[in-house]
Amino acid sequence: MTNADQEEFWTSDAGPKWVAQQAQMDAVLAPVMELLMARASLKPGDRVLDIGCGTGVSVAAAAQAVGHRGHVTGLDISQTMLDLASQRMATTTNIAFLKADAQSHPFTSLFDAMISRFGVMFFDDTVAALSNLEAALAPGGTMTFAAWGPAPQNPFFMVPAKAAVGVLGDLPKVDRTLPGPFAFEDSARVLEMMEQAGLSNTDVETVALDLTPPGNASETAALFLDIGPAQRAVEYHEADTAMTARVHQAVADAISDFDTSSGLRIPACIHIYRARKPA
Ligand SMILES: C[S@@+](CC[C@H](N)C(=O)[O-])C[C@H]1O[C@@H](n2cnc3c(N)ncnc32)[C@H](O)[C@@H]1O
Repeated sequence: MTNADQEEFWTSDAGPKWVAQQAQMDAVLAPVMELLMARASLKPGDRVLDIGCGTGVSVAAAAQAVGHRGHVTGLDISQTMLDLASQRMATTTNIAFLKADAQSHPFTSLFDAMISRFGVMFFDDTVAALSNLEAALAPGGTMTFAAWGPAPQNPFFMVPAKAAVGVLGDLPKVDRTLPGPFAFEDSARVLEMMEQAGLSNTDVETVALDLTPPGNASETAALFLDIGPAQRAVEYHEADTAMTARVHQAVADAISDFDTSSGLRIPACIHIYRARKPA
């Protein structure tokens, strides 16, 4: 089976943390949701596939955009994420959830639009995955994916990472072209993979925006100790309670640099990838 390690990761490791932090994550990433929805231009009546839908915030937004004549399928490889998504949307009628690997699932119907917020960077074979998705896109259909831009332009990752490493020591170097949050950071490489997959009318737009953590620096540092590189550093170095508390303080100190009169504002660089199948 393809992507078995990602299924395990998003079901038993990261999944439960994303579920526990769903309200925080939805709030901090809300500006990316707005950007994705603005660029996807979903229409009433559209049949939409949301790839790597996670705990479902984009499924809800898409369901509202397409209305009762449209339909949204939230697809994810993690049952842990889908359980919360379906629980949150138990009364929404124009949606369905599908536990499947987007790379290999044999789709039996066509979609007018495919969207994803941060759900397409984890395929072990991106060209195969995009090609599988392309086959399920209706003539005239669109794909709109939000992915992280270059790591150095995303303090959401770099600042907690640097603070944690400052306390605990280095982390093993990560190959960012492998499945992971930055697998789509190099837009030239991704556009090439999109073309290899047979996608048409491809483009990328790089957008600078501010992420909006709802809490103060200490509360946001607690989020970073659950999800992201600071969490990875704590786990890798097997930090005890005292060291973990030091990491928490270092991360809180570092992100307090982003405090403004309207709360924390963490700059981010987001790529919006798009494709449109000829009608
Ligand atoms: C970073 S999370 C983003 C979740 C959600 N889209 C959001 O923005 O809150 C990535 C999601 O992609 C899912 N995912 C990873 N690989 C996948 C695959 N091959 N097929 C379907 N979903 C996948 C994960 O289970 C996870 O829910």
